Order: sequence, then structure tokens, then C-alpha cells
Amino acid sequence: MLKFENVTYTYPGGETVLNGLSFEICAGECVGLIGANGVGKSTLMKAALGLVSARGTITVGENGNPSEAGNAVSKALVMNAENLPAIRRMLGYLLQDSDSQMFMPTVLEDMIFGPMNYGMPRAEAEKKADEVLERLGLQYLKTRQNHRMSGGEKRMAAIAVLLAMEPSMLLMDEPSASLDPKNRRKLIRLLKELPGTKLISSHDLDMVLETCERVLILKDGQIVADGPAGEILRNQTLLEENDLELPFCLQIQG
Ligand SMILES: Nc1ncnc2c1ncn2[C@@H]1O[C@H](COP(=O)(O)OP(=O)(O)OP(=O)(O)O)[C@@H](O)[C@H]1O
Ligand SMILES: [Mg+2]
Repeated sequence: MLKFENVTYTYPGGETVLNGLSFEICAGECVGLIGANGVGKSTLMKAALGLVSARGTITVGENGNPSEAGNAVSKALVMNAENLPAIRRMLGYLLQDSDSQMFMPTVLEDMIFGPMNYGMPRAEAEKKADEVLERLGLQYLKTRQNHRMSGGEKRMAAIAVLLAMEPSMLLMDEPSASLDPKNRRKLIRLLKELPGTKLISSHDLDMVLETCERVLILKDGQIVADGPAGEILRNQTLLEENDLELPFCLQIQG
């Protein structure tokens, strides 16, 4: 579903952030990506989206709908300029700075832009947008102008825009940042309910523990740990070696 093979990226004039990094995420997995500030989590996400052009091979795959013959049609595309539009079509993404993802005058228009761009009639796109807003309890944001929302409202609106696209894979960079406890809970419920493949980068290790079955730790340009979330997030020594701490819910109250 998502495969990085020997991926390296150096910012122009800067340091090497991803250094020959490899991992693979299978269809249907929900994987947390954790690591200290500045280790390259957002850069890795951007490489998967082709927003930065890394060296090495990045493959994005999709398990398609069953064909008329009843066989699942799957396609796997290697990241390159030609495949980029089709790869983006498969991915729903939430950038760490989701402000930059909202560019239409209102939330509704942002929500229908993508689906209409892919050929959905306006009425159907609006109906889908309504369903998503209803599901998230965000109807009140529907006609809100993007520059007239709070940080958390913008975050929830960006999540709504992403869901309206019905992507087969979600890449979310710090999805719970700026959310109040109720919206954070809503997000966690949503992540648990959504069936697709997910890669979630976050410092909210409690959310990662609740939603992800597997965790990757990124450090020095490499994946330095890869295993079941329940094991990695309970391994205090491993977390501390990587400048992280136990999730709050596992810290012994002193
Ligand atoms: N546009 C850029 N130009 C040059 N260097 C950059 C750029 N963006 C990020 N970096 C550097 O690349 C490294 C990785 O940044 P990145 O944003 O991927 O880290 P991160 O793990 O997402 O951090 P955080 O937890 O703070 O979100 C950092 O050292 C950062 O300073
Ligand atoms: Mg980041």
C-alpha cells in the first residue's frame, strides 16, 4: 500500500533529513509515526505525497473495487511526475499546517472542490459534504469563511475536506493538534471507525496508542523501531533513547 525503499531527502542547502529509509505499510493497517521535533516526520509525509522529491523508490498502491469478474483490481504506482496525479487521487492528506490546504472561500466549497474536480456532479458532491459534516457534527462550519475560523475549527474543517474525497489511504500529520478534548475524542472515534489504510504522525502518543496497531519511530533519517503500538509505546527505555516519553495514560502518577 505504501512502500519506501532506500529513500533519501536533503533540503536544498540543508541537512539530510531522510537517509536511506525503508518501510512498508500494508492495506488496512493503521500506523503511527513518532519521533522528536525535527526528526523528519512531516518531510516523510511530504515525500509520500510527492511534495518534496526524494531519491529512492516510493510506491503507493490501492486495492481497487472488485471488477465485473469479481476479482479485486489492485494497482501500485511508483512515485514519479507521470504517476503523481493518480497517486494524489488515492491519498487523503492533512498537512501539519492545514491552513495552507484550505483555499476556497468557504468550507463547503473546499469540500466539493476535489470531488467535482474528479468528475462528481455538484449536487452529489454537496450531498456527500453534508453527510461528512453531519457525521463530524460540523454543520455550523459549512458556510464559514476559512479566514474566520479558530485554529481548531480550521483543523476539523480540513479533516472534513479530506473525508469528502473518500481516499483509500489517509496520511495525517499531527491530526489532533489544536483540537479541544471533545473534538480530539471525535477524531479518535473517527480514526477507529474508518476502514482504510492510515499513516498518522503525532506527538499525541495517547491518541497513537488508542488508534494505531503499529508504530514506527523515526530518528537520524532512519526508522529505528517498528513494531506493535502496545509494545513500543510501553517501552520506556526505547522511547527515552529516542527523546520521547511514555504516553500520559501509562505514566505512573507520582
Ligand atoms: N523547508 C525547509 N527547508 C530546510 N529545512 C527544513 C525545511 N522544512 C524542514 N526542515 C528541516 O528538516 C528537519 C525535519 O523537519 P520536519 O518538519 O520534517 O520535522 P518533524 O519531525 O515533522 O518535526 P515536528 O515534530 O516539529 O513537526 C528539521 O531539522 C527542519 O529544520
Ligand atoms: Mg512535523
